[in-house]
Amino acid sequence: MPHSLKTPAIASVLDRLFTEAEKNDPAILAPLAEETRRQGGALDDRKLAGALSQAFIPVSRDVGQLLYMMVRTSRSRHVVEFGTSFGISTIFLAAALKDSGGGKVITTELEPHKVRRAREHIAEAGLSEFVEVREGDARETLRDVAPEIDFVLLDGWKGLYLPVLQLLEPKLRRGTLLVADDIELMPEMVAPYVQYVHSEDSPYLAVKVPMGDGLDVAMWTR
Ligand SMILES: C[S@@+](CC[C@H](N)C(=O)[O-])C[C@H]1O[C@@H](n2cnc3c(N)ncnc32)[C@H](O)[C@@H]1O
Repeated sequence: MPHSLKTPAIASVLDRLFTEAEKNDPAILAPLAEETRRQGGALDDRKLAGALSQAFIPVSRDVGQLLYMMVRTSRSRHVVEFGTSFGISTIFLAAALKDSGGGKVITTELEPHKVRRAREHIAEAGLSEFVEVREGDARETLRDVAPEIDFVLLDGWKGLYLPVLQLLEPKLRRGTLLVADDIELMPEMVAPYVQYVHSEDSPYLAVKVPMGDGLDVAMWTR
């Protein structure tokens, strides 16, 4: 099955962004990890947000490709992403829509300079018609997303996974897929979300997938 991830426009942007992220992020993440260790637990959201405002912290290439396959094989049209950063995961999601006949990724990002860069990268990849980047706090920007959502990627601040899910839940359809990233990286912060989707009487079927920084994949079954 042909796909567009290896076409020059998309491959060159992804290669450049992954290379930039590899160069840029360690100098930001190492001191944060040290401070977290010294403090004996997660840093507060504001401190984390300030420290990470210049970091890419993208999904891995493998996770990006898995997202591409999931969106494409589920024939998703309406995709929602929490946490755009510089647009790497968005490019995988939008490429899947392009290759399966269309649709839109509504993605949201708090940092204005990341929004600007993400829009540039998405345009460079030739995917702007498949993406709407909303600037601001997901708890506001995703309020008026239309039903029915086919696919959700949760990759913003980890403590907000559950509130963002609760905001979107009325708009899910039977079979909507949800992927939450970083569940092994920050287990305490994602615990409310993971407990909710895995609980005995949960309306979700959920599995943990040990890939990248840990994924939780859930399907809405009501
Ligand atoms: C892990 S990064 C996203 C990486 C991106 N998905 C990728 O793979 O390239 C998380 C992003 O979520 C953004 N973010 C955090 N809290 C947010 C909120 N409440 N609303 C919107 N964006 C938020 C951060 O600014 C950060 O850029």
